[in-house]
Amino acid sequence: MNDRIRTDIAHNARVWNYWLGGKDYYPVDREVGDRVTAFHPSIGAVARADRAFLGRAVTRLTAEAGIRQFLDIGTGLPTADNTHEVAQRIAPDSRIVYVDNDPIVLTHARALLTGTPEGRTEYVDADARDPGRILAAAAGTLDLSRPVAVLILGILNFVLDLDEARAIVRTLMDAVPSGSYLVVTHPTYDPELGGEANVAAMEFWNANATPPITARSRAEFASFLDGLDLLEPGIVSCARWQAPEAADVAQYGAVARKP
Ligand SMILES: C[S@@+](CC[C@H](N)C(=O)[O-])C[C@H]1O[C@@H](n2cnc3c(N)ncnc32)[C@H](O)[C@@H]1O
Repeated sequence: MNDRIRTDIAHNARVWNYWLGGKDYYPVDREVGDRVTAFHPSIGAVARADRAFLGRAVTRLTAEAGIRQFLDIGTGLPTADNTHEVAQRIAPDSRIVYVDNDPIVLTHARALLTGTPEGRTEYVDADARDPGRILAAAAGTLDLSRPVAVLILGILNFVLDLDEARAIVRTLMDAVPSGSYLVVTHPTYDPELGGEANVAAMEFWNANATPPITARSRAEFASFLDGLDLLEPGIVSCARWQAPEAADVAQYGAVARKP
């Protein structure tokens, strides 16, 4: 086993996999996942809605916006319909760079590197707090002078300082040209989306699991999108983004274009 993998404390990538119905987790992850679910009974629905949002956003950007390059930061463990599978089904020449800092994701990365012969997939073991390093590594696979969709789904919530989280987004979006996109999701405490359940759930998480997490308001989420043009329907629960009939979950989602 990779000696960076700790089985004595729950890790987000593994608990997320548990909530998604996967099999790549340890007993401690299941235990903490069940305790969090007791505080926030729809947390499994949040995880599923987030993945479904990823599928709709990547489909839209590949099929309608002509995007062929994706930088997926905070990838998570391989699951059904990973970014390269969604994009390359539509455009086999799509190139995808995955980034995560959890050693278990690194261990499973081979399953993410099964793209089409026409396209390319790459995995980078790096921390989102080092966007310069991510961009330098991504430049080996992506042409950063051409539009890129930057995916940051369920990960800025692990950057507890809001200014630092904003700076990460700004550094990434500054490095890609006009016509690039930001795809982002983030949990919230906002009661309009049922987010009050996140208060106790995240308090429990922070006492018992890693990495520490936070939620953000609609206005804080909107600040990640400053200077970008929002695609319809704007900022909504990620479950309802281009799926208006769906029920809200306490996770914002948006897709925006760099002008
Ligand atoms: C909630 S999961 C989301 C996975 C996937 N993006 C999705 O939406 O289904 C968050 C992922 O971000 C990763 N992560 C957390 N903090 C990170 C950091 N500072 N740098 C890189 N990855 C990080 C975790 O290991 C985990 O795989």
